[in-house]
Amino acid sequence: MIVVEGLWKSYGDRSVLERLNLTIREGEFVTLVGASGCGKTTFLRILLGDERPTKGRLTLDGRPLRPEPGPDRGVVFQRYSVFPHLTVLQNAMLGLEFQSGGPLGRLRGRAWQEARARASALLAEVGLAHVADAWPSALSGGMQQRLALAQALVLEPRLLLLDEPFGALDPGIRIDMHQLISKLWHATGMTVVMVTHDLGEAFKLGTRVLTFDKVRHDRQAPERYGATITYDLRGRARPLLPA
Ligand SMILES: Nc1ncnc2c1ncn2[C@@H]1O[C@H](COP(=O)(O)OP(=O)(O)OP(=O)(O)O)[C@@H](O)[C@H]1O
Ligand SMILES: [Mg+2]
Repeated sequence: MIVVEGLWKSYGDRSVLERLNLTIREGEFVTLVGASGCGKTTFLRILLGDERPTKGRLTLDGRPLRPEPGPDRGVVFQRYSVFPHLTVLQNAMLGLEFQSGGPLGRLRGRAWQEARARASALLAEVGLAHVADAWPSALSGGMQQRLALAQALVLEPRLLLLDEPFGALDPGIRIDMHQLISKLWHATGMTVVMVTHDLGEAFKLGTRVLTFDKVRHDRQAPERYGATITYDLRGRARPLLPA
């Protein structure tokens, strides 16, 4: 599904990623680990189409990635991306509103009802049906991340990009979120690429674990060399099925 060949990324003199080669098959759950600042978020943003590689090739289904984020790719960041001035349900419907072409509120009649039904079903799937009409400020951190997931999934992306989505959550809540993301991954068959700082989480969730690290160092100029993929490990042998 995704082929990365000889990819480099630098910002001015600062080299962030170098010589990345990678093939991701449809339906894989890839987790990415590596030291802070080694370019994990940058790589996700390249996959999202939000950043361009400095050198190298990246294809999705054999075609160059479209330069802008599209409905085939969903994303969730560590910190809540939900809109405080919209209700939970409105937040979940947002992708459908944007897809319809118009600004918020443009969906009318039947299209609006269908969008509402779709978003409501998704809220039920992530366990937020009972707070559909609440404001995000009334939700806990874990609930806000569930909403962010619903928001990312409403357009049924084939590729879901997660940047430390559970990093700010309490350990107990994280375990609930692991069950949820596994369930959604099984149900949809989507491909997931997830960054995490937590090795345990990486091996628990990923069918494949990639580590990013520098293999070349210049003590005089630490920014001279970027990170690359140093390990490509098999994650869990069997799918983590929901309890
Ligand atoms: N737009 C930008 N302009 C210049 N430098 C940038 C830009 N974006 C990222 N960088 C630099 O690229 C490097 C990698 O950043 P990135 O955010 O990808 O790291 P990361 O692995 O996600 O780190 P963390 O684990 O802390 O989230 C950092 O040195 C950062 O300062
Ligand atoms: Mg990051």
